[in-house]
Amino acid sequence: MDVAPSSQRVAGSTCCILLISLRFSALAMTLRSNSVPPSTKRPLRRFLQWSASGILLALIAFSAYALLYPERMPDAVGLVVEDLTGANPHPVHLLKPETVPLSLLAQLGKQIFFDPSLSASGTQSCASCHSPEHAYGPPNAALVQLGGPHMTLPGYRPPPSLAYLYRQATFTIGPEAADMDTPVATLSQTAAQVQGVARAQKTAGVAPVAPAMVPQGGLFWDGRADTLQAQAVGPLVNPVEMANANEAEAAHKLAQTKYRDMFKQLFGPRILDQPDMLLAEAMSAVSRYQIEDQSFHEFNSKYDYWLEGQARLSPAELRGMRLFNDQDKANCAGCHLSQPGHDGLPPLFTDTQYEALGAPRNPKLAENKDPKYFDMGICGPYRTDLKDQTQYCGMFLTPTLRNSANRPVYFHNSVYHTLQQVMEFYNWRNTNPEKIYPRDASGKVKKYDDIPPQYQANIDILDAPFDRKFGDQPAMNQHDIEDIIAFVKTLNDGYQPGWTLNHVGH
Ligand code: HEC
Ligand code: HEC
Repeated sequence: MDVAPSSQRVAGSTCCILLISLRFSALAMTLRSNSVPPSTKRPLRRFLQWSASGILLALIAFSAYALLYPERMPDAVGLVVEDLTGANPHPVHLLKPETVPLSLLAQLGKQIFFDPSLSASGTQSCASCHSPEHAYGPPNAALVQLGGPHMTLPGYRPPPSLAYLYRQATFTIGPEAADMDTPVATLSQTAAQVQGVARAQKTAGVAPVAPAMVPQGGLFWDGRADTLQAQAVGPLVNPVEMANANEAEAAHKLAQTKYRDMFKQLFGPRILDQPDMLLAEAMSAVSRYQIEDQSFHEFNSKYDYWLEGQARLSPAELRGMRLFNDQDKANCAGCHLSQPGHDGLPPLFTDTQYEALGAPRNPKLAENKDPKYFDMGICGPYRTDLKDQTQYCGMFLTPTLRNSANRPVYFHNSVYHTLQQVMEFYNWRNTNPEKIYPRDASGKVKKYDDIPPQYQANIDILDAPFDRKFGDQPAMNQHDIEDIIAFVKTLNDGYQPGWTLNHVGH
């Protein structure tokens, strides 16, 4: 489906059709009320009267047909119908991952995922921070989750959702290494080569002309882990998470679990005596679980049903969707991709690229008590391989917006707790920075206060809604914001479609 055109056009065409219908009914009425006794009726008048009624009837029938089968309507009519019914005039068939029973390896991964005995405290599992009831994101509104041997140590960042990572590619800068003929360069080499290459503007619904020479893919807010498998060992030995002293200790715990026979069954009788192998197999099991289990990628939000022609959006949701996709207004879809791929792959609401948005500093985070500390994402401090590529300082992974309406904390530093606050940030960052950032002692607004001044040039000022200047009219008003939030809520999984008239009929 193309980008939804401006609402004026739609409103215009709706008015047009309605006016024509009204015009004909009025004409028919006039003819009737003026009518003279049948005997004296002139043939011309009778002819006009009948054709007016005929056209009116045809219009009513056509409208009814259009309402029942919006997907069979041509584009212009489809939009009018979308307006009137909230149904998708061009339903698609989404290519969702198949539901298959979990493999033995994934079943083992599931055991590991929920097992608190693998942590030093004996109380924390992966699921403690990546809660299945919360789209595998944080279970509470704490800025960061506690961990460590006594469950008292704060983490550094909020846990991202683990849902919808099944298509996440490895971290690259520019096109995938496999696409290039040249020998594979290191990340820093590539980064140095593409430094200074102008970055393409991100416009909702418009595919960029050239492959983006920007960081993309990878896991964690800064992309420092490449695969689910490589990532999983991290939390087991992270001192502020599951806090095992080292990998040997983690392997030792795995060999004591009540499901240890599953390891033997899958990898042979000696596996429990080979700590390195044991840990590696355990990690591949956890990653298999996240890829195979349907609960990590349900694709059963209202928006998914709408895309498939099985749900109708409310007027607020519909309007919110158009603003979300509107390249001059909210332009959310410029980065949080909203359209299914040509292959029918459902949209993940992220382009999996990295951006420096300049979110305000969160003074409540423990590490932010140190005024010299800055979490700069790709260029450190948790990621170290690209610390000299300062053009990436301040950049963080664009998260999926699926299920984000239920997230208790937003952004890499948990600075926001509600979608209203997030929307105000997007809306006012440039036009009214005094509403977003604190003031210093002299009363000056400390714009971009969570990025050292020398890196503030990395912050995105190209893409709408960030292209507005100080004092400009903000891109959205409160009504727009509410409607966009209504749309973002349609991205929550677990929607129950009611009975609808239209189905994917082809
Ligand atoms: C104490 C809380 C905590 C525990 C326990 C924990 N994680 Fe995490 N997880 C996090 C945080 C915080 C991040 C983000 C870290 C960052 O960006 O630096 C994260 C990131 C991830 C990511 C990357 C997600 C993304 O969207 O990039 C994956 C995958 C993951 N964790 C899986 C696991 C698995 C598997 C386990 C169990 C072995 C686990 N986590 C245990 C807090 C936790
Ligand atoms: C230029 C790309 C870009 C545009 C345009 C954009 N976003 Fe984002 N969005 C991001 C990035 C990058 C982050 C993470 C930033 C961070 O943590 O520092 C983010 C984070 C978010 C989050 C927090 C999600 C989480 O899990 O913490 C929400 C909600 C969100 N965006 C909604 C929107 C909406 C609604 C719009 C349109 C008004 C929008 N975004 C426009 C790139 C973009």
